[in-house]
Amino acid sequence: MKAITIKNYGGPEVLEVAEVVMPGITAPTQVLVRVRASSVNPLDCQVRRGDYASQFELPIVTGHDVSGEVIAVGAAVKKWLPGDKVYYSPRFGGPGSYAEYHLTDEATLSRIPHNLSYEEAAAIPLTGGTVWEMLVTRAQLKKGDSVLIPGGAGGVGTLAIQLAKSLGAFVYTTGQDVLHAPLQQLGADVIIDHHHKDYIQEILAYTKGKGVDVIIDTIGGNTLSEAPLALAEYGRVVTLVDIPQPQNLIRAWEKNATYHFVFTRQSRDELQPISRLIESGAIKPVIDSIYPFHQVRQAHERIEDTKRARPLFGKIILSM
Ligand SMILES: NC(=O)c1ccc[n+]([C@@H]2O[C@H](COP(=O)([O-])OP(=O)(O)OC[C@H]3O[C@@H](n4cnc5c(N)ncnc54)[C@H](OP(=O)(O)O)[C@@H]3O)[C@@H](O)[C@H]2O)c1
Repeated sequence: MKAITIKNYGGPEVLEVAEVVMPGITAPTQVLVRVRASSVNPLDCQVRRGDYASQFELPIVTGHDVSGEVIAVGAAVKKWLPGDKVYYSPRFGGPGSYAEYHLTDEATLSRIPHNLSYEEAAAIPLTGGTVWEMLVTRAQLKKGDSVLIPGGAGGVGTLAIQLAKSLGAFVYTTGQDVLHAPLQQLGADVIIDHHHKDYIQEILAYTKGKGVDVIIDTIGGNTLSEAPLALAEYGRVVTLVDIPQPQNLIRAWEKNATYHFVFTRQSRDELQPISRLIESGAIKPVIDSIYPFHQVRQAHERIEDTKRARPLFGKIILSM
């Protein structure tokens, strides 16, 4: 089968379409899936660059979203049949989704919502599990809460805004002025242009100095240290970002803040409620662009290009 392989760590140029051995079922609970679409996550770029080199052996097939069709099932698999349309996030550290076929355990699989195409479905598993984990499981966001979701136009942000809105929260986000209308359509109540304005000053002005109940850190840098300046008393901060440099949390102490650190693992249980919200129409995938499999380098260049002429809005999809 064809797969996109990484033989050496580096930039997008190390991604190569190559012929690799097709996986076969070797355990009774395994399922073989024909991958129809995948997506590009910042995590794929980190793996490609070698940020997780201690957890992988070269060559690597990366990719953290699968939407596709069941081809074959192990002897103990009762729930799934060849032809079933499934989506999931492959186990971190194992073979990834940038391939024509992917072998997984039946416990990872969810049925694709009936109203999604394969391309739309590939936008969901990793970010869907992540937004449920950060907003519901950790932040326990509820009706009437206020939340700041920076990076509202990104893969996480476009889904998080919709989920926060469906939970009844008041949503602040950051995004370029040109994306104001589409971010509003997703459910954002206040949009701060992070290229021209300071989100802390803006939040303090909008909330009359009170701050917001929940801040999601999708940015890194000094966000963990600074966030308490825009946080309400007893607020919650949820960070998705691996931050190697030490952080001064004195302001967090002053605010009686609670911090949550999230590194999403394969999370079918957290994808299920997202699937239901998609089927009810409360949430929809946002697609920035669709690249054919062999243009994976251009897809990685787009997510990493900080000077994009057209701003990113939603997920970048790889069509197989
Ligand atoms: N821990 C986990 O389990 C987990 C899971 C998923 C994602 N993540 C992390 O979450 C982050 C977001 O992921 P993603 O998939 O949404 O990425 P993405 O699709 O690349 O989107 C990033 C967004 O952030 C915006 N942005 C960049 N710098 C910013 C800044 N200083 N202030 C405000 N906004 C800024 C970008 O806007 P511009 O176009 O204007 O720059 C873009 O809209 C990444 O760091 C990713 O690694 C973690």
